Order: sequence, then structure tokens, then C-alpha cells
Amino acid sequence: MEDKVAIITGANSGIGYQTALDLARRGATVVMACRSEERGEEARARLLAEAPGSTALVLRLDLSEPDSVQAFCREVEAQVGVIDLLVNNAGIVGVPLARNSVGHELQLATNYLGPFALTCTLLPRFRPGAPSRIVNVGSLAHRLGKLRLDDFNWERSAYSTFGAYARSKLALLAFTVELNRRLERRGGAIRALASHPGVAATDIGRYHHLTNPRNRVGRWINERIAARIASAAEAAGPTIHAACAEAVRGGDFFGPGGWLELGGPVAPARLSPLARDEELGRRLWALSEAMTGVRFPASSAG
Ligand SMILES: NC(=O)c1ccc[n+]([C@@H]2O[C@H](COP(=O)([O-])OP(=O)(O)OC[C@H]3O[C@@H](n4cnc5c(N)ncnc54)[C@H](OP(=O)(O)O)[C@@H]3O)[C@@H](O)[C@H]2O)c1
Repeated sequence: MEDKVAIITGANSGIGYQTALDLARRGATVVMACRSEERGEEARARLLAEAPGSTALVLRLDLSEPDSVQAFCREVEAQVGVIDLLVNNAGIVGVPLARNSVGHELQLATNYLGPFALTCTLLPRFRPGAPSRIVNVGSLAHRLGKLRLDDFNWERSAYSTFGAYARSKLALLAFTVELNRRLERRGGAIRALASHPGVAATDIGRYHHLTNPRNRVGRWINERIAARIASAAEAAGPTIHAACAEAVRGGDFFGPGGWLELGGPVAPARLSPLARDEELGRRLWALSEAMTGVRFPASSAG
């Protein structure tokens, strides 16, 4: 990763931080895309202490807000220039029904529509002709997801906190496969891949009272399960593999191997057939362009 530039969303905590740290240790310049500048700067200081001599900068990005995504892309153009790797890692899980400023359900906006808009807008920034990757961080939960393109944004059906998370991750993985098809058809050297971390002891549980480590019940539950599941550093393994390993192909999906893909050495992961469905991928793409107003660029340097 020497001389490469990598953007990692949600790089201030958990799997995103561990991914950024690993890439920095491999010599990449890391752009830590964080929704709080303060938390981002704290994480950057930690990263520079853990990987002395590395280069990292923090840029503000709130994936749930379309204006913030576009402002971030302008900052990348102004401050970073070319990029080699984009890791769409940031995510939220299990929040009660809430909508962003343009009415998109929050898990869909953060976990899928934001990354869709970010990726398509950043495509022209990839280093011309150089092998480059986009890695989307999915979840085992995607296998339980339903896309429901007729009510994708939870306007008529009863909202389910888990259903919305599973839908957002299924959409992100179907997007990965469709994006890779489009990149291959267009030519060039950018490829899209995906990963999932299994189940890991991170801060992701804070959105639900039963798993929020900041309250008594959540802390009790977290303490009991933390010893039995992967650490954030271990859980970053599949993402780092998708980002850096040589023998990978566009469209590959990696997770921890082991029982039910919950933890173990990195291995190819099982992708829902819905994520590979070409017709569904095309329809999802058209809907995502309509919802975000962002289009796949007809050609780019990469
Ligand atoms: N941990 C697991 O067991 C597990 C399992 C399956 C999949 N995953 C996936 O792994 C990824 C990383 O999660 P994690 O476990 O490392 O959790 P985490 O520690 O909570 O990290 C999530 C990161 O996403 C950021 N983020 C949330 N909303 C954002 C927004 N609107 N704009 C920009 N950044 C935002 C958070 O920023 P703040 O600190 O500002 O909130 C944080 O940096 C997520 O996509 C998650 O769905 C995790």
C-alpha cells in the first residue's frame, strides 16, 4: 500500500479504525472520513501514536446527509487529489424510525444511499489506470434482508429496526456486485469487492438499549459476550483482505470463516442470491440514482 491513498468511512472507531490503522502501517496515506471532526481527530492522534511515521488526515463526512456527502467529495478533490482505495465501512444498526433531511430512512441513508452517492461521485478521483478497489462492508444480516423496491424507503410498510438494517446491507451488497459489473463493462482497473466482519465487540451496539454499553443492562450483556466474539482488530481482517490481498477478483465477498461465518480465518463468504440477481441489481441502481440524484459516470480516468 506504499504511496496509495485510502479513504475509510467511520474510521474513528471499531472496524473502521482498525482498518485505517492496518492500512497506515502498510504505508498508505489514510483519509479518515468521520462524522465528528472531534472524534476523528482523537482517532487520528491514536493512529499516529500506534503507527508512528504514517500519514493520516481527517475529513468530515455525514453519510446520512446528501449535502455532507457532496461537500466531502469536494474536499477530497481539493485536499487529496487522487485515491486508490475507498472502504465504505461506516454504519449504524437498529435505530428507531428516523429520516434524514430529504426523507430517507436513516439506516438506508447511512448504510446504503450515502455510500452509493459517495462512491459514484468519487469514481472520477481514482488514480488513472492504476489497479484500485472499492470495498463495501456488509453484514451476515443481509441474508435475512428484503429489498422491497416498491416500498424501499419504508413509507407504507411497518418499520422494523432489524429489517431496515438487513435491507440496507443487502442493498449495499447488491450494489457492490452491480457496480463491479458496470466497472468491468466500462474497462479500466477499478474493482468493487465486499466483506463482512462476522460478529465483533465494537460500539455498534450503542443504538439499542439491550446492547448499548453505556447503560447497565447493555454493559452486563457486552461484558459477557465480548470474550466470546471477535475483537475489532480481528473483525477488520476480511475488509483488509478485500482491500489488500493480491489474489482477489471484482465481486468477491470475504468474511471470517468458521462456524456460520461468525469467526475464524478470512474465507470467501456466502452471498445472498438476491445480491447477485442482475435484473434486481439494475432496478436497484435506477432507484438509487433517482433517490440520490447521483449517476454512475459514463467514463472516468480509472
Ligand atoms: N460489529 C459487528 O458485529 C458488525 C457485524 C456486522 C456488520 N458490521 C458492520 O461493520 C461496520 C463497522 O461497524 P463497527 O462494528 O466498527 O461499529 P462502530 O464502532 O459503531 O463504528 C461505526 C462507525 O460508523 C460511523 N458512522 C455512523 N453513522 C455515520 C454517518 N452518518 N456518517 C459517517 N459515519 C458514520 C461511526 O461514527 P460515530 O463514532 O461518529 O458514531 C463509527 O465511526 C458497519 O458497517 C457495521 O454495520 C459490524
